[in-house]
Amino acid sequence: MPLVPPYIEALRPYEAGRTAEEIRRAYGVETVVKLASNENPLGPSPLALAAIRRELESLNVYPDGGSELRRVLAEQFDLKVDNVIVGSGSEGIMSTIIRAFLCDEDEVLTTEAAFIGFQVLARSRGVRYRTVPYRAWHYDLPALAAAVNERTKIIYLANPNNPTGTIFTRHEFDAFYRHVPERVLIILDEAYFEYAKDNPRYPDSMHYRYDNVITLRTFSKIYGLAGVRIGYGFAHEDLIHNLLKVKLPFEPSVLAAAAGVAALGDKEFLHRSLECNARGLRFLTDALAGLGLEVVPSEANFIMVVLPGEEEARHLFEELLRRGVVVRPLAAFGLPRSIRISTGADAGNRRCVEAIRDCIATRAAKE
Ligand SMILES: Cc1ncc(COP(=O)(O)O)c(C=O)c1O
Repeated sequence: MPLVPPYIEALRPYEAGRTAEEIRRAYGVETVVKLASNENPLGPSPLALAAIRRELESLNVYPDGGSELRRVLAEQFDLKVDNVIVGSGSEGIMSTIIRAFLCDEDEVLTTEAAFIGFQVLARSRGVRYRTVPYRAWHYDLPALAAAVNERTKIIYLANPNNPTGTIFTRHEFDAFYRHVPERVLIILDEAYFEYAKDNPRYPDSMHYRYDNVITLRTFSKIYGLAGVRIGYGFAHEDLIHNLLKVKLPFEPSVLAAAAGVAALGDKEFLHRSLECNARGLRFLTDALAGLGLEVVPSEANFIMVVLPGEEEARHLFEELLRRGVVVRPLAAFGLPRSIRISTGADAGNRRCVEAIRDCIATRAAKE
């Protein structure tokens, strides 16, 4: 189709994970455990749910750009409202950043196999997209700094990273930052911030108020609000000012903004979710390592398992589906030997490990 630019032609539509109902029907299993999308297995924050219910009566009114949520975030993080943006998930804000700042000749720089949402957004802008390989499943920050050229406009870093689950430390980021020219915008994607923040080596980017860094966070993970689409960002007021020119004016929705405000106050749910995740991470990491698998130690709400080859990764993914356990194959990210498993509730995690044990035993018996 001549209408379509070549960089759009080259993309493939995002394939949403299959629903539990689809898996149930396709494989004839009674129950399904979905550990594929890094969602909160405890459900949504109850306070957020209550806020959504309260807002239902006023859905005839247009949203106001999430002004109350911006105010509450500014207060909570000791910033000015002008330093805060809210949007339809952190991906919504990433999309705004890409539209606001990238020109045709600019380049985007990031790691290989970066978070797929960012890959798709950047590639769909048609600019040059350059990557640097991982070093032991971590961002290679020195190599990224060395790869900056005069056309580099945006560097994208996720910390913790999806899909590897690894972090870079404060010390590593400081050294990296010193080598990046101020004209380059660094996106620090902290979608999994809450899971990592108690690690003393983790660099909470709120401590950096650099003019060329934008921090992105989300309510999709620890607050269990992935379905409502609400995320936020912090940056210099000039940066935010320009983003607000480009952002869809009625983003986020009334329900999403109200859910965000209420979720920020739901300390009990946050605590419970963190405990559940810490238990899940420990259990999955130890149990799968005990089965002889290569597990990348994680600071987020998922783990990455690296199989000996592509065929083994595909096989394990398919066999788990047959047993009603849905995980994420990482070929689309660019890591065809790996799968990603989100932490579930305790019973779901146990079922996942038992299913993997069974897959390994069945395969060994056939060989
Ligand atoms: C690193 C990273 N950034 C952003 C997102 C998307 O978050 P949101 O739901 O706020 O768009 C995800 C979701 O998986 C993610 O893993």
